[in-house]
Amino acid sequence: MHHFFALLITSAVTGFVLADPFLSGWMGALLPVIENQTLLDLTLPGTHDTNTVDDSDTVADNANSLPPALSWLFHEFRCCSPGKFIRNQSITQGLTLTDQLNNGIRFLDFRIVYSAPPDAGSLQPHDWYSMHMCQSKHTAMTYLQEVRQFLDNNPSEIVVIWLSYHGNTDATGTDQYPNVKITVKQAFWRQIEALFDGLLFDTTTSSTNTTTIAEMLVRKQRVVVYAADWVEFTNSSTKAINTKVYMENDGCADTGNGTRVYDAQAKFAGASALKKELKKNNTFYLLSMAAGFPSSQITYAALLHYTPLIEKQKHLQLCAVAHDIPGMTDWCPMHLIEESQLTNYYNQIVLDMVISGTGYDLPNGIYLGALDFGGQIRTGSELLWPASPSMAATASTGQPKVTDNNTTGFGYVDTLLLYNVRQACRHVPSPVADCQKLTAQLEQRRSLAPLTLWNDPAHGRLINWPPPKEVGVVKV
Ligand SMILES: *[C@@H]1O[C@H](CO)[C@@H](O)[C@H](O)[C@H]1NC(C)=O
Ligand SMILES: *[C@@H]1O[C@H](CO)[C@@H](O)[C@H](O)[C@H]1NC(C)=O
Ligand SMILES: *[C@@H]1O[C@H](CO)[C@@H](O)[C@H](O)[C@H]1NC(C)=O
Ligand SMILES: *[C@@H]1O[C@H](CO)[C@@H](O)[C@H](O)[C@H]1NC(C)=O
Ligand SMILES: *[C@@H]1O[C@H](CO)[C@@H](O)[C@H](O)[C@H]1NC(C)=O
Ligand SMILES: *[C@@H]1O[C@H](CO)[C@@H](O)[C@H](O)[C@H]1NC(C)=O
Ligand SMILES: *[C@@H]1O[C@H](CO)[C@@H](O)[C@H](O)[C@H]1NC(C)=O
Ligand SMILES: *[C@@H]1O[C@H](CO)[C@@H](O)[C@H](O)[C@H]1NC(C)=O
Repeated sequence: MHHFFALLITSAVTGFVLADPFLSGWMGALLPVIENQTLLDLTLPGTHDTNTVDDSDTVADNANSLPPALSWLFHEFRCCSPGKFIRNQSITQGLTLTDQLNNGIRFLDFRIVYSAPPDAGSLQPHDWYSMHMCQSKHTAMTYLQEVRQFLDNNPSEIVVIWLSYHGNTDATGTDQYPNVKITVKQAFWRQIEALFDGLLFDTTTSSTNTTTIAEMLVRKQRVVVYAADWVEFTNSSTKAINTKVYMENDGCADTGNGTRVYDAQAKFAGASALKKELKKNNTFYLLSMAAGFPSSQITYAALLHYTPLIEKQKHLQLCAVAHDIPGMTDWCPMHLIEESQLTNYYNQIVLDMVISGTGYDLPNGIYLGALDFGGQIRTGSELLWPASPSMAATASTGQPKVTDNNTTGFGYVDTLLLYNVRQACRHVPSPVADCQKLTAQLEQRRSLAPLTLWNDPAHGRLINWPPPKEVGVVKV
């Protein structure tokens, strides 16, 4: 049970190590200290809009966040390629699902839509795709097969998959999946059950708040599915958990005016008390640290893209100033993932506080954008784009780091893992040697991608902002 197989995949082109053997099997590595913890005691590193790396430039039928008429039009008239612009506003990740899993991600925000294929008119036969405005190039099942493959390669690992249309835990019926028949939903659920046959956590055996990680591994129940619209989508299956009842999904305020830092700090100060309460209700506590950006950003980005000759400077300035960061006056991030990178710059401050401060706690899962290799989140301003080789990988391979900070990242996964080890070791004094060894190892790993602040106000990165604030820790 303590053994695991690690895949070491090296890109032929770049020579970077794309899978980190420690991160691809971290649950196995941490098992000596976390074996008696339940899922609702741990904090899983996750990604927001997990599968957007492979978005096509076809806006899905019934795409979210767009007026239905507009998305129908975009889908129907692919010639006009608004999708190419929207795609850049929908991609939040630069790593494939397999790369994310191999780099430590264990919580997947897997969003799905029933739609015609990306290259076909909306009257063509439908299938399930993943989606964030634009739909994925391949069917959702194609990507879920990557998860199955990862689980087969890594027998000590457990993955949580949240299925929803657009990150709504509570909506049911056609409010969750517009225009999809119950039979169509349940047919897809049966495919998912078949794909993960034998691996799905079964709530008739026990519940998530009492089952230890060791027990889950013994039973080989290593996939925990949280499903929105659970009654209709899964026919109330005991092999999925109803998000409407058993998932608490919270978010953090925008970066502007420093509120991201203060808000996340307040959330972490209250997390211990809330997590305890939620565990009693058998509820998974999830927190989004995804991009917080002004809603006007996409409008200014569209104006800059489609009417570059008209009032360009004014639009740039309005977009920049809407971010409400001192000194950021004429930069408009033209890709959503750039917003994620900017938000991550401020996320790292609070995530680091959890380790360096006292009284802070973390939820059961965090999900955010712009994950980089090495389990890092990119905080630098250079576009983390699908298929662009990452410099972050050099940190874990010991190659010299670049000093311009453009591709700088923060050790997101290692930070959460160190936190998990500390938590478990607080309650469990017995495996002292394992606690010491893992703590030292994770501290060393974190030192390769530590909290890094620099001054680049033009791109919204500041050293002394926002000013530190005392936040009262909620006593349990
Ligand atoms: C887990 O519980 C078992 C049974 O009580 C105990 O033998 C073992 O030492 C515990 N493991 C840890 C890491 O505390
Ligand atoms: C989308 O972003 C890519 C990468 O920066 C860029 O090459 C492309 O021109 C952009 N497309 C549109 C329509 O904005
Ligand atoms: C849904 O579940 C019920 C109860 O388990 C079962 O009787 C019924 O046949 C299921 N429906 C379908 C369409 O599988
Ligand atoms: C900015 O934050 C401060 C407190 O941190 C608050 O007093 C002020 O009203 C905020 N300004 C805006 C424009 O939100
Ligand atoms: C736990 O469930 C009870 C009963 O549904 C509810 O009143 C309470 O607010 C829940 N606790 C939390 C922290 O959500
Ligand atoms: C687990 O959740 C159930 C409610 O579903 C509750 O009755 C039980 O006390 C909880 N157990 C723990 C250990 O929190
Ligand atoms: C990059 O960040 C480091 C660490 O904060 C800083 O010392 C250095 O000056 C930064 N480089 C640039 C070009 O801003
Ligand atoms: C780093 O980013 C700055 C600001 O965007 C840019 O001027 C510079 O060319 C970048 N350096 C590299 C090596 O890409």
